[in-house]
Amino acid sequence: MTLFEPGICRVDVAGGELVGASNRYTKTYADLAGLYEDQAAFAALVAANARSVAYEVTDFKPSANAGDMIIGVTRMEPGQVGREFYMTRGHIHARPNRPEMYYGESGQGLMLLESPAGDIRILEIGPRSMCYVPPYWIHRSVNVGAEQLVMTFAYPADSGQDYDIIAKAGGMKVRIVNDGEGGWTAVDNASYVPRPPELVERIMAMKD
Ligand SMILES: [Fe+2]
Repeated sequence: MTLFEPGICRVDVAGGELVGASNRYTKTYADLAGLYEDQAAFAALVAANARSVAYEVTDFKPSANAGDMIIGVTRMEPGQVGREFYMTRGHIHARPNRPEMYYGESGQGLMLLESPAGDIRILEIGPRSMCYVPPYWIHRSVNVGAEQLVMTFAYPADSGQDYDIIAKAGGMKVRIVNDGEGGWTAVDNASYVPRPPELVERIMAMKD
């Protein structure tokens, strides 16, 4: 067995990044087509900010080996498309039995979780909250605050991400919208199509 070198990376909370990260990826507003219900508001946002970064991930990825771990930072801009708060694309892990951990550094966010069968859980993440995303849950972050949302995370290095599971269902089952009183609320997504039971069964049976 060859040993890897230990690593240390500083979390720049104000900058919303992992200093010394080995990878960085960004999503612009234009990359998020199809996520939001208000298409006119989305088109206006993209027209004004097509190249602006909606969210960014910086991570330290020693390998993609089973048993290894990826650590990193995610930074999301605050805002809304129509009444809907900014969110990440969301995914289930390609190896869906892999979990994840998120830790709030700054801002106010939600972890929106959906089981393959369509159960919903919504967890509020603020500074110093540690969020456990269990295996087999589709997950998406939502920035419901007025500031940028910065979280650190860790997950098994061989998890992988499957984004199509959300797109194929017409989105997640609920949308997180402004409640008109300075807070958020979850409303049904009219475009949502439940997964067929055979598909749910197949996902829930997936192991390594
Ligand atoms: Fe994940």
